[in-house]
Amino acid sequence: MRAESAIPPGQDGRDLARAVRDGLAGGGPKSLPSRLLYDDLGSTLFEAITRLPEYGLTRADDRLLAAHASEIAAFAHPPLAVAELGSGSGRKARPILAAIARRQPEVAYYPIDLSKAALAQCRVELGGIHGVGVEPILASYGDGLSEAVARTRSGERLLALFLGGTIGNFDRGEAVLFLGDIRSRLRPGDGFLIGTDLMKPVPALLAAYDDALGVTAAFNKNLLVRLNREVDADFDLARFDHEARWNDAERRVEMHLVARSAQRVTLRALDLVVEFREGEMIWTESSYRYEKEELPAMAARSGFDCLEQWADEEWSFAETLLTPR
Ligand code: AVI
Repeated sequence: MRAESAIPPGQDGRDLARAVRDGLAGGGPKSLPSRLLYDDLGSTLFEAITRLPEYGLTRADDRLLAAHASEIAAFAHPPLAVAELGSGSGRKARPILAAIARRQPEVAYYPIDLSKAALAQCRVELGGIHGVGVEPILASYGDGLSEAVARTRSGERLLALFLGGTIGNFDRGEAVLFLGDIRSRLRPGDGFLIGTDLMKPVPALLAAYDDALGVTAAFNKNLLVRLNREVDADFDLARFDHEARWNDAERRVEMHLVARSAQRVTLRALDLVVEFREGEMIWTESSYRYEKEELPAMAARSGFDCLEQWADEEWSFAETLLTPR
């Protein structure tokens, strides 16, 4: 059993309907892809998660980027352009863009995202950095990266960013395919900076995904709110619990929605009735943990050389700077 891909293929109604049928209609274990967690409210709740005391991941990512921005900016001679896969508001890229802007008069920044609102926010967030030109690309990671490569000028290198530990939401096999795909789109001399959350004591990990305020529980249950709204379902939120569990064999935190009692849910727009047994779960997300050496080794198999790796001591997290071999 596996939670379906976190890789966003698009967030249209057909994607949702297909994912819900695939994940809930068969007789087997129920699951929904984690990308469905991110409607407007889900994205806002995720933003709140990043500020929770128990969730140190985003703060570690921010600390490393702030501390090493100058070294990252200096990985290649100017001119350098920057593309960010899944940019969101673009906030995370700020220190790197500012460091590059100190080395060259103009920097093109290509935020790549499937959300128009996020891309509009990028202009507001980063347009004010002197010398930085924001050129949003509304596309999936791969297509957007190829578009950014095509837009680079003669002699310009591209630094691609994949921050926030999002690779952890891919199954390990998908992560390898993803690295190979990125490698195939970059050119020798380009760079790829990837943030990865590392292994840490299990109680700390579980607390990060089941916080005392209940924000992560709300983030998870919002998926049912979304189905009630978008496919006219009648999930009763009070009859489902949020659960975070550690899977030691796979080294991942899993998020589940657990039925408190046997029940029947109707999804009217899909003409679908789904039965739940007491204790039956919908698997909604996997968040894998890596050892520090694992990412460079995986990347090497995908045709990258590792230029540098920086790790945070407070919350074990690594930024790895790669270049196509
Ligand atoms: C986006 N991603 C890296 C988050 C994570 O930690 O796996 C999503 C998340 N899910 C629950 N809390 C945060």
